[in-house]
Amino acid sequence: MTLPAVPTVSLADVRSDDPALRARAAEALKLGFGTFGLVYVADHGLTAAEQDRFYDAFLRLTQRPESEKQKYARADLWYQRGWTPPNTEKAVAAEGQPDFKECWFAAPMAYDEAATKVHPELYAPNVWPEGDETFREVYMQMGRLLHGVGETLLQGVAQSYGLERDALVKLVQGAPHVFRALRYLPLNEAQASAGVLWGEEHTDFNLLTILPGGRFLDPQGKACPKPDEASGLFLRTRPSAEHPNGQLVPGVAPPGCMVAQVGQQLEILTGGTLIATPHVITAPKVPAYSRLSSAHFVHVHTDVVLQPMGPFRSEETLAAYRPPVLASTYDLKTLVDIGLAPREALDALGYRNYERLASAHAIERKA
Ligand SMILES: [Fe+2]
Repeated sequence: MTLPAVPTVSLADVRSDDPALRARAAEALKLGFGTFGLVYVADHGLTAAEQDRFYDAFLRLTQRPESEKQKYARADLWYQRGWTPPNTEKAVAAEGQPDFKECWFAAPMAYDEAATKVHPELYAPNVWPEGDETFREVYMQMGRLLHGVGETLLQGVAQSYGLERDALVKLVQGAPHVFRALRYLPLNEAQASAGVLWGEEHTDFNLLTILPGGRFLDPQGKACPKPDEASGLFLRTRPSAEHPNGQLVPGVAPPGCMVAQVGQQLEILTGGTLIATPHVITAPKVPAYSRLSSAHFVHVHTDVVLQPMGPFRSEETLAAYRPPVLASTYDLKTLVDIGLAPREALDALGYRNYERLASAHAIERKA
C-alpha cells in the first residue's frame, strides 16, 4: 500500500468562520497527526526575512568562543535555559551516542509564577548572552510566533475531534514551553562516511513541536542549499501489517511551510489517536557542512495528569496508557533519560524519610 502524502494544514483554514474550510483543516490534521504524527503548516505568518534575522543572530552566538559559551551552560537548570554544549543530550534509544549538536534554550512565553517554586528548573528565568540585545529580541519574537502556531494547531485538533475549541489550549497556559535553537555540527570525513547522525531517532516527549525550518551552512560557514539527499528529517510511520517497523519517509516541508510534530504527551492525551512519530536527523554524507535549526516545544502545564481525555478515554486506552503520570514527573523522568537532568533528581519522587528512619533505627540499636 502506498502511503498518502503528508498533508499541509493552512492556519487560515483552522481559524476560518467557514465550516467547509475548518473541515478541510480537520481532515488534514487527522490524516497528518494520525498517520505520520506530523503535518506541514502553511499561512503561519513567519516571513523569510524574520527567519533570516533569527538565524543570523544565532549564528553569531555559535561563533563565540567555547569558553564564553560555557558561562551560559546551566547544568543546574537541567540545560532548560542558556547553552547546551555538544555531546550533552542523547536520545533514549541512542545506546550512549550523544547528539552531534549545540543548543540554546529560552522560554518565549510568560509562565505560571507559582510553579517556579515547585519546579525551579523547568520554570527558570531566561539566560541571555551578554552584549547582543538583538539576539534576545529576535529569539523572543520568533518563539512567540511559533507558540501562536502551536496554539492554533491545538485549537484545530480540538475542533477536529469534537472537543471544545480551547480544550487543549487550556492545558498549556503558563506551561514550561521552551524554544530551542540548534546547530548541528560539521562532521569530519570519517564521521560523515561512518553515517554519524546529527540527532538519533527519538520521539518528542512534549505535547506538540513546531519546526520552522533551518539553514545549511557550507564548509566556509555560508548559507547554502541542502548538500545532498541523505541529510535532513526522516520520520518513521505508524507500524502496519505490511510494515511492522513502520516506514522511514522524508519529512521535508514544501517551500515556505513549517513542520508540526505530535509529542508523546499528545499521544497519551488522545489515547494514541494521534501518534508521536519517531524521527531522526541525518547528516550529509559529505563532510564539513553544518545546519542551523530551531524547534519550539509546546508543553502542557506541569500540574496536568497525563491520561486519555474526553472522547479518547476508554477502558482500552486507559489500559494502553497506564499509569497516569503527572506532567512534571513525566518531564523530569524524560530529562533524566536524555541526559539533561541528573539521575539523583528522580530521588525527589520517592519517600523522603528513609534517612530519618535509618537514623532512628540506628539510635534504637545503640540504646
Ligand atoms: Fe525531535
